[in-house]
Amino acid sequence: MNATHPDIRTLLQRRIPGHALEQPFYTSAEIYQQDLENIFYREWLYAIPACQLAKPGAYATMRIGAYNIVIVRGRDDQIRAFHNSCRHRGSIICKEHQGKVAKLVCPYHQWTYDLDGSLVWANNMGPDFDPARHGLRPVALRNLRGLIYVCLSDDPPDFDDFARQAAPYLEVHDLEDAKVAHSSTIIEKGNWKLVWENNRECYHCSGNHPALCRSFPLDPEVAGVAADGSISARLQAHFDRCAAAGAPAQFLLSGDGQFRLARMPLQETAVSYTMDGKAGVQKPLGRVALPDAGSLLVFHYPSTWNHFLPDHSLTFRVMPISPTETEVTTTWLVHKDAVEGVDYDLKRLTEVWIATNDEDREIVETNQQGILSPAYVPGPYAPDWESGVIQFIDWYAAWMERALIPERMAAE
Ligand code: FES
Ligand SMILES: [Fe+2]
Repeated sequence: MNATHPDIRTLLQRRIPGHALEQPFYTSAEIYQQDLENIFYREWLYAIPACQLAKPGAYATMRIGAYNIVIVRGRDDQIRAFHNSCRHRGSIICKEHQGKVAKLVCPYHQWTYDLDGSLVWANNMGPDFDPARHGLRPVALRNLRGLIYVCLSDDPPDFDDFARQAAPYLEVHDLEDAKVAHSSTIIEKGNWKLVWENNRECYHCSGNHPALCRSFPLDPEVAGVAADGSISARLQAHFDRCAAAGAPAQFLLSGDGQFRLARMPLQETAVSYTMDGKAGVQKPLGRVALPDAGSLLVFHYPSTWNHFLPDHSLTFRVMPISPTETEVTTTWLVHKDAVEGVDYDLKRLTEVWIATNDEDREIVETNQQGILSPAYVPGPYAPDWESGVIQFIDWYAAWMERALIPERMAAE
């Protein structure tokens, strides 16, 4: 795939704001590697909901670029993350996506690790061998009100600012009381930035998402904040009503643009993402007293967007697989005591977003195919309807410039 192209620094410097990126950003193996090294290997990434690891010994594995990690709940109930690579000769230890074990046992020569990563058994290693020096290598992990974030960096960037600002919004959703009702993983044959660009606008929704549009509003007065940051009186009234009911709602975009929190209204007749707009779960997850509080929309670049509703919650995880492939994992969370077939019907709960994800996959793949053509020229984004895409691309470009052209950023 276009092996030769101008250096990424040149491409960043000649970027036209308000326009899509040039082709190599969506196709080049070299820029893909830069994205991994400067963003995904350095930043905090959403991994799983904590409730996915319900009991001690429950684990989940996750690939992040070339890395493979395992996240496991210990007997002390602490959730920890480790590199999923044996300290003997490097074999993968946990081969499944998830499972439950008493100890972590390497399949190659059975070195055995406790759930806290310490090496507890290694056969025939001789008298000088020190197990204490051969525990699993830890990965930084934070549990934000039931959402597990990990960071591969040995010197992780600040997480506290996001955690402090997000916690009051998340608190009423009681995610620690949740269980996973369903999880779906799809591969979209498109660059990870195209997945995000598509997520950050609803310019495409009316023409592509018939199921979602039954509950998700398109009216710009309530569907978003204007490009200049102004909030319509109707939207502000919604924020105020939610806040008065104990569910923080105000639109909040971080100074560097990396995350956003806002409790946005649904269509007037809808309380959840179902085909009829009615609640999808009778036993609600959380304590949002207002049935029509809408959806708490949270994004945190580069790995997650989320919808937290009064009856259930949805998390989405974005993981690049190759320059032109991205894995998207969607997880539906319901109250841990909600009973399938009694409190919720799984098809009814999941059908809108299963359909929407598939529609988005098709859009992203078609977008990628068009960009692969040598005739592709970056076009302009619609200033109002695609202000979220502009925001994402500006964030990406600024981030990469900071990493790759620090002298330029210092001069500004
Ligand atoms: S590589 Fe794991 S025990 Fe040998
Ligand atoms: Fe979409």
